[in-house]
Amino acid sequence: MLKTGFYTTKPANNSALVVLIANKAGKAVIESNASDFDKKVKMALSSAIKASANFTGKARQSLILTGIAGAEVDHIVLLGVGNAKECSLTDIEAFGSVVVRTLKMHKISQASILLDSFDGHSNQSFAAHMAYGAVLEDYSFDQYKTKSKSKGKDKVEIKKLDFILSEVAEAKKLFTPLQKIAEGVFLTRDLVTEPANVLYPESFAARAKKELTPMGVKVQILTDKHMEKLGMGSLLSVGQGSARPSRMVIMQYDGLPKTASAKQKQPIAFVGKGVTFDTGGISLKPAAGMDKMKWDMGGAGTVTGLIKALAGRKAKVNVIGVIALAENMPSSTATRPGDVVTSMSGQTIEVLNTDAEGRLVLADALWHTQEKFKPKVVIDLATLTGAIIVALGHEYAGIFSNDEELPKQIAEAGEAVDEKAWHMPMCKAWDKAIDSPIADIQNIGGASTGAGSATAAAFLQRFIKKGTAWAHIDIAGMAWADKDRPTVPKGGTGYGVRLLDTLVKTHYEGK
Ligand code: BES
Ligand code: MN
Ligand code: ZN
Repeated sequence: MLKTGFYTTKPANNSALVVLIANKAGKAVIESNASDFDKKVKMALSSAIKASANFTGKARQSLILTGIAGAEVDHIVLLGVGNAKECSLTDIEAFGSVVVRTLKMHKISQASILLDSFDGHSNQSFAAHMAYGAVLEDYSFDQYKTKSKSKGKDKVEIKKLDFILSEVAEAKKLFTPLQKIAEGVFLTRDLVTEPANVLYPESFAARAKKELTPMGVKVQILTDKHMEKLGMGSLLSVGQGSARPSRMVIMQYDGLPKTASAKQKQPIAFVGKGVTFDTGGISLKPAAGMDKMKWDMGGAGTVTGLIKALAGRKAKVNVIGVIALAENMPSSTATRPGDVVTSMSGQTIEVLNTDAEGRLVLADALWHTQEKFKPKVVIDLATLTGAIIVALGHEYAGIFSNDEELPKQIAEAGEAVDEKAWHMPMCKAWDKAIDSPIADIQNIGGASTGAGSATAAAFLQRFIKKGTAWAHIDIAGMAWADKDRPTVPKGGTGYGVRLLDTLVKTHYEGK
C-alpha cells in the first residue's frame, strides 16, 4: 500500500511539490499557501498559469513545471481543484488519484502536497481524503509478472506522498480508518483478480481464514461433508461436477461489547456468491469471454473485504459474513438440466439451466445464515445475471429488496462513495414465473418472462424467512472494470466494500 505522511513542513527529500489551484468564474485562483510559495519562486506559478493555454485550475487539471529556481524541488505540479467549496469527498479523493497518475506519468517517485484552506472543507478532511484517493488509485496486481518486477524500470512506483498542513494530528485521525477500508478494498480486488487455478473454494476459504483470524474475526469453514449433513443440496449441486470440493465460510466479527443489549447485538449479515469459476456447467457458456468468469466470486470477494474493513477500523457493530464457494464445471458428475435437488430449507428445485447457479449456492447460504444467526438484516451480493448489465451497464448495481427503507439506504450510501446502486422492482408475476411443474421452484423463469435479474431475485426471496429484512445487490456489471476510473484502476474494482461500510456506519453502528 502506498505510504503517506502528514507534516507541518515539507520533508527535505521530496523531489516534487504539488500545489492546489482553485478556479473561480473560469479563472485560476492561487490561495494563501500557494501564493506564499509563488512569491518564493518569483511568481513562477502565476506566470506559468498565464502562459498556459489550458490550465485554469478546473477540477482534475494538472500542469507540471520543472527546474524552477528557488523551488527547492525539481518539479512543481499544479493541480486544479475547481470550485473546491462545492467538492464532494469523492471529488477530493479523485484529486488524490490525479496526483498519483500525474506523478507516475512524469516518473516522479516522491512528492509533497501543499494544502490550502478551502471554504466548506477542513484542511484535515481535504488531506485525509486526498490521501485515501491516492492510496486507492495506486493499487496494482502484478504478482505474476516476473519480468517487469525484476527489471523494475518501466514501472514507476511512488515511494511516499506527504501532505503539508498544520492540522497533522486531526488528519491522521481521519485517515486511519480510511486506510483500513482501503485494505479491505484491496483484499477484494486481489480475490477477484486471482485466477481460478489459484483461487478455488478450498484456497479461498484458507485465504479468508488467514486474513481475518489475526484481526479477531471468528472464521468457520464448512466442508462439503459438513454441508451434506446440513442438507445443502442446492449449493452442493453446483460444485458436484468439479474436482474441487465446495466450501462455505462463516466470518463472525463482534465489534460490540458483551454488555450491549441483545437487540444491539443481533447481527447484520452479508452473504456472497462465490462461484470461483463459472463455465455454465452442462449448460455450457460460449468460449468467448469465458475467462471473465473467474470473477464470478465477486460477491464473496466483497463480503470478505468488507469484514476486513469493518474489523480493521474496529466498527462498533456485530456482523456475519457468509460466502458460498463452489466451482461450476461440466463433467460426468455434474448436475444435468432437469435434475431436481433439495435445498436446506426443504424446498425442492428443478435445475432447468445449470448456468443459473449463483442463486443455487445463495439459496442454502441465505437459509443457513437466517437459521443460525437470526440477523436483523440480510444483504447478499452476487454477480448474478448478465441481464443486470443490459439494464444498468457498468454505472449502477441493481438492488432488489422486500423492505422499504433498506434499498433507499443502500442507494444513498452508494451515492456518497461513488459506488452507485439503483432500486429495481419485484412483483408477484416474476415470483410465479419460477413455479416448477414438478418441484417447488425452477431455477429460471419461462422463456417469455424476460426480466432475468428480477426472476433471479424472486428465486432468492423464496429463501428469505417472513420478517427478515433483505436486500440483494446484483453486482455483475460492477465487480470488474475494463476502463480506469478515478481511484479505481481497471480490473477488480472492490465494488461494494465502501458502500456497505458506509451503510453500516450510517445506520447500524452503535445502534
Ligand atoms: N455469472 C453469471 C452472470 C454474469 C454474466 C456475471 C456476465 C457477469 C457477467 C451467471 O451465473 C449466469 O450465468 N447467469 C445467466 C442466467 C441465465 C442462465 C438465466 C445469465 O445471466 O445469462
Ligand atoms: Mn452461470
Ligand atoms: Zn455465475
